[in-house]
Amino acid sequence: MILDILYATQTGNAETVAKKLQLLAKNQGFNVNLVEMNYHNINSFRTLRNVAIVTSTYGNGEVPEMGIDFWEELKLSKVEMVNLRYGLIALGDKSHEIFCGAGKAISKKLDELKCIKVIPNLECDGDTEGTYEWSIKFLEKLKLKAYYNDKV
Ligand SMILES: Cc1cc2nc3c(=O)[nH]c(=O)nc-3n(C[C@H](O)[C@H](O)[C@H](O)COP(=O)(O)O)c2cc1C
Repeated sequence: MILDILYATQTGNAETVAKKLQLLAKNQGFNVNLVEMNYHNINSFRTLRNVAIVTSTYGNGEVPEMGIDFWEELKLSKVEMVNLRYGLIALGDKSHEIFCGAGKAISKKLDELKCIKVIPNLECDGDTEGTYEWSIKFLEKLKLKAYYNDKV
């Protein structure tokens, strides 16, 4: 099964989390593509089936620079993606007014476009605690969902 991991980071935390997820997924036999978020535009993104998004938040609740172009396109999109399964890890810090704003905004938009949320978002406050456990659960649920969705 192919898993596409998209990350957006400013100082490396989201990239580290994304790489750990990549390793776990590879060890479970997934065929993994790990890319910076801006690697995709809305047309290429739409073709994906199993997606993990790992993003931090910068500025005032904004997506880091390496994800801005992608986010600007996604934000405007109105085309539903009912076959895209996803999970999302949002890194942030509660000392900022808009906690995990980037992750929350992306997830809200994906839900509006009818993507399949495989597992509740993980929101991290000031660290990356819980990302390993989330990753294990995400891969488990993804395999199950993919099995049942693809059968019907
Ligand atoms: C200048 C700056 C602005 C930030 N703005 C926000 C914010 O608006 N909301 C939030 O939840 N976290 C904010 N953060 C916290 C980061 O998202 C958090 O430290 C995260 O772990 C960084 O991950 P990264 O290394 O992948 O970029 C900000 C951090 C910095 C340094």
